[in-house]
Amino acid sequence: MKINSIYITIIILVIGLISCKKEQKPTIEKIATNVYQGTAISSEFDDAIDSLISLMTIEEKIGMLHANSMFSSGGVERLGIPELKMVDGPLGIREEISRNSWAPAGWDNDYATYYPAAGSVAATWNPDLSYTFGNSVGQEARARGKDMLLSPAINIIRTPLGGRTYEYFTEDPFLNKKLAVPFIVGIQENDVMACIKHFAANNQETNRGTVDVLMDERTLREIYLPAFEAAITQANAYSVMGAYNKFRGDYLCENDLMLNKILRNEWGFKGVVVSDWAAVHSTVKSLENGLDIEMGTPKSFNEYFLADKLIEAFKLGEISEAEIDKHIKRILNVLFQVKAINGKNRVQGSLATEAHYQDSYNIAAESVVLLKNEKNTLPLNLEGVKSIAVIGNNATKKNALGGFGAGVKTKREVTPLEGLQNRLPENVKINYAEGYLERYSKNENDQKAEVTLHGPLPVNKLDATKLEEAIEAAKNSDMAIIFAGSNRDYETEASDRMNLKLPFAQEELIKKVMEVNPNTIVVMIAGAPFDLQEVEKMTSTLIWSWFNGSEGGNVLADVLLGTINPSGKLPWTMPKNIEDSPAHATNSFPGDETVTYKEGILVGYRWFDTKNIEPLYPFGYGLSYTNFEISDLKTNKETYNINNLIEISFKMKNIGNVAGKEVAQLYVSNPDSKVERATQELKGFKKVFVKSGASEIITITLPVKELAYYSEIKNKWLIEPGKYVLKIGNSSRGNFEEISINIQ
Ligand code: BGC
Repeated sequence: MKINSIYITIIILVIGLISCKKEQKPTIEKIATNVYQGTAISSEFDDAIDSLISLMTIEEKIGMLHANSMFSSGGVERLGIPELKMVDGPLGIREEISRNSWAPAGWDNDYATYYPAAGSVAATWNPDLSYTFGNSVGQEARARGKDMLLSPAINIIRTPLGGRTYEYFTEDPFLNKKLAVPFIVGIQENDVMACIKHFAANNQETNRGTVDVLMDERTLREIYLPAFEAAITQANAYSVMGAYNKFRGDYLCENDLMLNKILRNEWGFKGVVVSDWAAVHSTVKSLENGLDIEMGTPKSFNEYFLADKLIEAFKLGEISEAEIDKHIKRILNVLFQVKAINGKNRVQGSLATEAHYQDSYNIAAESVVLLKNEKNTLPLNLEGVKSIAVIGNNATKKNALGGFGAGVKTKREVTPLEGLQNRLPENVKINYAEGYLERYSKNENDQKAEVTLHGPLPVNKLDATKLEEAIEAAKNSDMAIIFAGSNRDYETEASDRMNLKLPFAQEELIKKVMEVNPNTIVVMIAGAPFDLQEVEKMTSTLIWSWFNGSEGGNVLADVLLGTINPSGKLPWTMPKNIEDSPAHATNSFPGDETVTYKEGILVGYRWFDTKNIEPLYPFGYGLSYTNFEISDLKTNKETYNINNLIEISFKMKNIGNVAGKEVAQLYVSNPDSKVERATQELKGFKKVFVKSGASEIITITLPVKELAYYSEIKNKWLIEPGKYVLKIGNSSRGNFEEISINIQ
């Protein structure tokens, strides 16, 4: 006993020395603009880890492989190994949850910054802002003493109906990876592990716990894996969350192909795989096939698959100690990397500071998408405006919390109404009317039964009194702004929406208000596409905002008043009808026991462009208060080989009266391809600020390797020689300049 404790003291001292020796991580290495690189997992702690493992009992080891509370997995106190503490993070740091149930722990010091949801980050098309988010939220995770942030969520938006669309970035794999990487680098610079989720092919909520996802290998490689791969190979994410669903017959938390072969063998992942909550279905199989930590929903923690059942399996000789040690080693390693074990100078972090609210503001400021400004109503000219009717439940609705899943408890969420009150001059009177009521089907039983199938069912009927109030407000005001869309009770984890229809009879409300005051602006607040065909016809001015964080209301007011010139671009296609969307056009959503992604690689705009279907608003679309002109498109050469970088340069001129930011988007077509290809694919983009009347020369660097397609015959990426057309525009359908190059 005594010898043992001397031994432990020596090991702790050795670990301490190693930690002191460990150099401060380099700050982010920006190899070129928008290229971020994370710090790789080092092997410097291997000896210390082996020593610790040699002192652990089998029970102690297995205690580290499963939850010991709702958001932590076990440690070994006597050896100085702490619990691994996790926290949700899609909108910011989730409030503290009780150890044994989903109930909030009731702390009074866990108020956090509410950041714009991922859809909003994606709409900025600005990787630097994605880094800002990761870095800022990483600070907050540390201030709350956490080791792992369950973020970012980087599943591809396959259907516009997806309940978690607002939580994910985009339908496009290139934009996805360019945003995921800086986000992760930002988090991990704060001695916190990023946990990328949900690995992989978790693109629907309907039957997510059972559905078997099937798709061809090319689609997997080209569409669904690139962001995960970049997260591992470029950002060096320290952890990965296995998804709920099955892939090709096996649950993703026991999927040898995905966890061992692709993640570890191909991509060289050295971190830990954590299960989604209650996504584990086996003991030996899941461990052997790559899972490291089992998390779950409330039940006695020793009943987990990787708890007593694993001890039992070990005793029966069904699993070796060496196999168990492999997983312990990974967990210890990531704990060392983020200085959770005996770490000196670990980032302390800070929570809900003014600087973080400013980060939240800055992200939101570049996310708002101006969809229509036909009469140049915006920015608002307040001359002669004495009153504005502000209409709609969404003018006051808060979205930091709500629905099923993780939100943020915050002291600051500026609503759109408050934003206008803060920003409008005092002599402009605001006439607020709620307009529509957020109501759901009353039948509780129906509601419960429907929830996992198609989410909360909205009552699509206006309340007569509310309508009357709205009409009165609109009649008695010089102009009106309607805040419509959805909210986080309607768009929510665990269910997909039933259709694209605007809920709560909003369309009718908009129509009635327009009838009495045609000078009406419509502002959508939502995280996923809606059917706006009718609304688009009725109004000349349409804006899209998101679940936009603590400062969302101030940002919206600043956009309306022109303090912010909008520069957001849609990160997904807004279809006219749901039947136009690929998963629906091919009748392959939501499936039943299995879902086959019949549209293959033609996800999002790839489908609309290739099949010549007109969307309501295309991918990458968004207007500004100024106009930009692209000209002088050049490449540095005409012919390239596969190891080259293509330098594409062009002039971007701001031809309007105000300064603004524009997103130059590079799309590539391969018209002579021998294999099926989408009409065009995003292969580069750059957001630039240009003063009124000024021009900027912009260069986008495109590695020829990005032009490859995945060959199922050869099982590898291939680049076809021949002609490629490079197109620069400001949306997937707008304003193109073209140039052709050759690949040898
Ligand atoms: C979600 C995860 C989340 C976990 C813990 C699951 O239902 O799918 O994204 O991190 O719960 O809250």
